[in-house]
Amino acid sequence: MKRSRRSKPFARLEWHGRREPAYRPASLQLDTEAYPKGALTSSDFSGQLILGDNLTVMTALLTEWEGQIDLIYVDPPFLTGKAYSTRIGRGEDSRRPSEWQTVSGYQDTWRDGAEYLDMLYPRLDIMRRLLSPSGTIYLHLDWHASAYARVLMDEIFGPNRLLNEIVWIYHGPSPIRRAFKRKHDTILVYTKSKDYNFNADAVRVAYDPSTVKTFSSSPKAGFGKVPDLERGKVPEDWWYFPVVARLHKERTGYPTQKPEALIERIILASSNPGDIVADFFCGSGTTAVVASRLGRQWIACDSSPLAIHTTYRRLLLENLDHPFTSWRSEEGTRSQGVKPLVTVSQSGSLVQVALEDIQSENPEGEPFPANINIWEVDWEFDGDIFRSRSQAVRSWREDEIGTHLKHTYQQPGDYTLGVRAFDNQGLVGLITHQITLPT
Ligand SMILES: C[S@@+](CC[C@H](N)C(=O)[O-])C[C@H]1O[C@@H](n2cnc3c(N)ncnc32)[C@H](O)[C@@H]1O
Repeated sequence: MKRSRRSKPFARLEWHGRREPAYRPASLQLDTEAYPKGALTSSDFSGQLILGDNLTVMTALLTEWEGQIDLIYVDPPFLTGKAYSTRIGRGEDSRRPSEWQTVSGYQDTWRDGAEYLDMLYPRLDIMRRLLSPSGTIYLHLDWHASAYARVLMDEIFGPNRLLNEIVWIYHGPSPIRRAFKRKHDTILVYTKSKDYNFNADAVRVAYDPSTVKTFSSSPKAGFGKVPDLERGKVPEDWWYFPVVARLHKERTGYPTQKPEALIERIILASSNPGDIVADFFCGSGTTAVVASRLGRQWIACDSSPLAIHTTYRRLLLENLDHPFTSWRSEEGTRSQGVKPLVTVSQSGSLVQVALEDIQSENPEGEPFPANINIWEVDWEFDGDIFRSRSQAVRSWREDEIGTHLKHTYQQPGDYTLGVRAFDNQGLVGLITHQITLPT
């Protein structure tokens, strides 16, 4: 494919202490292979979930993925100055936030705007390097930083690579009384070249009932162009989707979670089945889950262990037959602090593990088993990579979680079982157990 030349930006953003991006070599470590639904043989991984600062992670990815990623959607911190918490309780009254059970979520607090731009600039620059020649990036922000980001993106991608400025509108309560309520976000869409992928037919929507009525009664209406009412229209660049609210099935409790319908439109428009879709600020994993559902390969990264835990849980709950891997960068450490207590029983080649309780470092927690989010077994643990073959996962609003997992071995011999559990704050712990299956 011919690479089109980037046009020169007519403006350049300066901020205090601006430096050109510099990258230190980095590597990633594989720590988990997850096989939802117990698929035993497939090594056809559909996605990679990565814990770590995304600058380190993207630098490490360059070796394999430079120029390979078809679509990037990112929803970074917005420069709001807030610290967000994650809701981990169930069934609480939305109107009484003081009673919610929460843990810390992520920080969107900065010394000043310059510190924020120092964070954003090198990351956007490296995202461009990762994009394929026909790739597209969607950068999701709001009024706090989108104007600055627009100038930066013009510089990095070229002003003529701006494909759209999407406005996502929504409604909801607001404490504002002396201004209009701020109820839209801005999504800047840039392509790497002029030969980009855009699937208009995949995102068509029905015409407005008033348009249908007008043209049905008078085909000569309008300005000479008769719309194909059956086929529908390509959406305008302003989109309405409701925000993810407490009663929505997709709600995870992770702060600032974006609606699946919004991400679905983006993935359908700008990627094809089998393409690679990446989200380097993945939060609760909306992009990974929707990409997986739509048959795309995906890469999802976050620096918060709780975000990675939420995404992992969400992918398992999705119950798709798509194995995926989980990685961490050198600085990305999981939050340890849980010990699963199990009994193991054998009957011939059938082995059953029963989870009896957990010891958790969390001082306050719900009683067992409501304090467990996930527990899982690697039936042939090698002491290094955890291969999650069987899982019990608590869904978002349930107290119950399965407490028994079983497996039938094909060969006699000595085996090490790895049993791993995550509590309801995302703390993790692993124990091992030896068994011998007689001939
Ligand atoms: C706005 S939230 C993303 C929400 C997500 N779109 C969703 O639907 O759940 C931003 C996320 O960026 C993560 N984050 C912030 N700085 C990061 C960094 N340097 N590297 C990786 N993740 C980062 C935060 O932990 C947070 O989860």
